[in-house]
Amino acid sequence: MKVTVSRKAHFNAAHRLYRKDWNQERNESIFGKCANPHYHGHNYELIVHVTGTVDPETGYVIDMKILKDLIQKEVEEVFDHKNLNEEVADFFDLIPTAENIAIVIYSKLRPHLNTKQDLSVTLYETPRNFVTFSG
Ligand code: NI
Repeated sequence: MKVTVSRKAHFNAAHRLYRKDWNQERNESIFGKCANPHYHGHNYELIVHVTGTVDPETGYVIDMKILKDLIQKEVEEVFDHKNLNEEVADFFDLIPTAENIAIVIYSKLRPHLNTKQDLSVTLYETPRNFVTFSG
């Protein structure tokens, strides 16, 4: 029997979506307001889902305290109140779209979980726009 447990987290971060090899006009045509050369922020909402069997001893899939601390250390402390393009090495050569941020978050968390547990990351960039990456 597998159960999915989920933990919500939050961070504020600035970004700019652009390609250095495109001019500003082309960047704006593809990335819209997110191409603003002066950057802008989003209130990112993150939901981390861990699916696995229930430990018969504890009744847990994963200890929520451990999951909370893991997200805090690997994601919130790295991304919160940061300019993703300028300050977070993962995005020096990677466009910080919600898609790519979700993939980066997944890759940061995955090594810390039991290999028998499935991980899925849902990231809201706005209340209406969100992406999910499950590996
Ligand atoms: Ni944006």
